Amino acid sequence: MEDVAGKTAFITGGASGMGLGMARAFARNGMKVVIADIRQEALDEAMEDFSRTNLAVHPIRLDVSDRAAYAEAADEAERVFGNIHLLCNNAGIGVTGPIKDATYDDWDWLKSVMLDGVINGVQTILPRMRRHGEGGHIVNTASMSGTFASGDAGIYITLKYAVVGMAEALRWELKDENIGVSAFLPGGVRTNIFNSHKLRPAGMATGYAAQDAQKEALADDFRNAPPGSPFAAISIDIDEVGLRVLRGIRRNDLFIISHPEFREGIEARNAALIRAIPNEPVSQDRIAMLRQMGTLLTQPIYAEQTTPQGKPDEAGRDTNA
Ligand code: NAI
Repeated sequence: MEDVAGKTAFITGGASGMGLGMARAFARNGMKVVIADIRQEALDEAMEDFSRTNLAVHPIRLDVSDRAAYAEAADEAERVFGNIHLLCNNAGIGVTGPIKDATYDDWDWLKSVMLDGVINGVQTILPRMRRHGEGGHIVNTASMSGTFASGDAGIYITLKYAVVGMAEALRWELKDENIGVSAFLPGGVRTNIFNSHKLRPAGMATGYAAQDAQKEALADDFRNAPPGSPFAAISIDIDEVGLRVLRGIRRNDLFIISHPEFREGIEARNAALIRAIPNEPVSQDRIAMLRQMGTLLTQPIYAEQTTPQGKPDEAGRDTNA
C-alpha cells in the first residue's frame, strides 16, 4: 500500500507506545486513524495531544479479546472514517518470566490479548477489507522475541512466534487480493510496556509477581530513557517506530525490522535450523513431488523480501542515511 493518504488505519493498543507512534506517523502522512485501546485514560491523554493538531484521529475503547466488542469497534470505525484499509494488530502485554513459573492464568491472559486479540482483529476486519476491494495491509506487531528465543520470556516468545507464523501464512493467502501482510519485529522501544501487569484482570493468579515489581520500579526510566541511561542505549523512540512501520507498509515488506543490531540472534537461529537438517542422501523423487504440491517444499514470499536502505524519512520512505 504505497499510497496511504486518505486511507483508514485501525491500530490496537493505539493509545500508547508503539501504537501511538504509528498513529502519529500515519496521520501526519494523510491517513485517517482509529486508535483502539483498553485504557480510557490513555485514549483521553492521546486525544488531548491530537486535539491540538488537525490530524484525523478517532479513539475507541476496546478490549481486543472481546469478539463482540471488536465487531462494534469496526462498525464505529467505518461510520466515522469509512472503509478500513490498514489493520495494526499491536496491543500487547509485556509480562515476562520463565514458563516453568507460569500459572494457567498467565497463559490465558497473555494468549487472550497477544494471540486471540490478533485473531479477532483478522477475523473482524479482513472480511471487510476483502469486501470493499480497495486494497489494504495488515501488520502484526511481534518482537525480536518472534525471531529467536530472546530474553527470559517463554509465554511471550511462544505467542510472538505464533503471530509471525500467522502473518507469513496470511501474506501468501492474500497475495492476489492487493492486501499486504507484515510481521513487525522490534527490539526495545521506549513505551509503557513495563506497566502492562497493571492490566491483569482481577482474580487472575500469576507466577511473575517478582518480575512485575521489578519492571514497575523501572517503568518510568524505561519509557523516558534519560540520555546516558542504559535504556537510552538499548531502545528507540515511538516516532521512529511509526515511520519504520509506515515504510514497511509502503514497501510491502514481509518482515519489518527496526533494530539492525539483532542480526546475530536471527542468524544463529536460522543457521541452527540449517545445521539440523540431517546429512543424508535426499530423495529427488520426494523433492519433485513436493515441488508440485503448492508451498510444501518452499514458499515464494521469502524471496520477495528486500533490504530497506537507511532510516526512513518523515514520509516513511527509504533514505540512504
Ligand atoms: P504499551 O504498553 O505502551 O502499549 C500497549 C498498549 O496496548 C497499551 O496502551 C495497552 O493499554 C494496550 N492493551 C493492552 N491490552 C489490551 C487489550 N486487551 N485490548 C486493547 N488494548 C490493550 O507497550 P508497547 O511497547 O507499545 O507495546 C506494543 C506492542 O509492541 C506489544 O505487542 C508488545 O508486545 C510489542 N513489543 C514491545 C517492545 C518494547 O520494547 N516496548 C519490544 C517488542 C515488542
